[in-house]
Amino acid sequence: MAARGIFVTGTGTEVGKTVVAAAIARTLAAQGQRVHVFKPAVTGLDELPADGPIGRAKGDMPVHRPPPDHELLRTAAGSRQSDEEIAPYRYGPPASPHLAASLAGEEIEPKRLLKAARTAAAGADALVCEGVGGLLVPLAGAYLVRDLAVDLGYPLAIAAAPGLGTINHTLLTIESARAAGLEVAVVVLTPWPQEPSEVERSNRETIAALGSVEVQTLPPLDLSDPASWPPLKFSRGR
Ligand SMILES: Nc1ncnc2c1ncn2[C@@H]1O[C@H](COP(=O)(O)OP(=O)(O)O)[C@@H](O)[C@H]1O
Ligand SMILES: [Mg+2]
Repeated sequence: MAARGIFVTGTGTEVGKTVVAAAIARTLAAQGQRVHVFKPAVTGLDELPADGPIGRAKGDMPVHRPPPDHELLRTAAGSRQSDEEIAPYRYGPPASPHLAASLAGEEIEPKRLLKAARTAAAGADALVCEGVGGLLVPLAGAYLVRDLAVDLGYPLAIAAAPGLGTINHTLLTIESARAAGLEVAVVVLTPWPQEPSEVERSNRETIAALGSVEVQTLPPLDLSDPASWPPLKFSRGR
């Protein structure tokens, strides 16, 4: 295993895990580290056209869907890993990985995941892993994302929304992580507005105090240009 690594989870789906994982990968790569990325399973590829705009916003600007997770992670890390090396299981339907696998007539094998993650780690100074959904999402049978995080042994970064509802979701995730013996390195609130509201500022302080955890923030990023991103640093990640 790479000596250094981080497992990025979140309070749920669409909360910014990929963006946080990409920002950490970019930060380490910009320091000159060889960074590899890993994602146990990617689902919902059917919803992601390979290229071309998906619509037009106000002012006739074309709107592009973000790339699939493994592509954004690879670009941010400056990695040359193949799709297969980053994400050994890739499925079309937007479903939980255990269901997406079952719809494809197969089962995710925890042993294969661990082998793939170890291979990815072996070739790098640091490995940045992104989970799927939240910690208690099943990968296969009763083997949860949390079990994979435990097996990999890396500390966690938790991606969470800045606004109303985030205290409960984030503290539940921290509690679930610590109950399994996982170390929580940082909570990252994303996207953190330029002018945060009182609720958002208070959420940040409350999570730090009640979760006894470092809380960092990530501003809105231009996802097509990792070189423009500010570094995302935290004490445990140096
Ligand atoms: N800091 C940020 N800058 C730009 N977009 C963000 C940021 N944080 C979250 N998003 C947006 O929020 C959505 C969900 O983020 P994503 O990282 O894909 O979530 P997850 O991996 O948890 O499903 C995406 O459309 C992403 O572009
Ligand atoms: Mg993601």
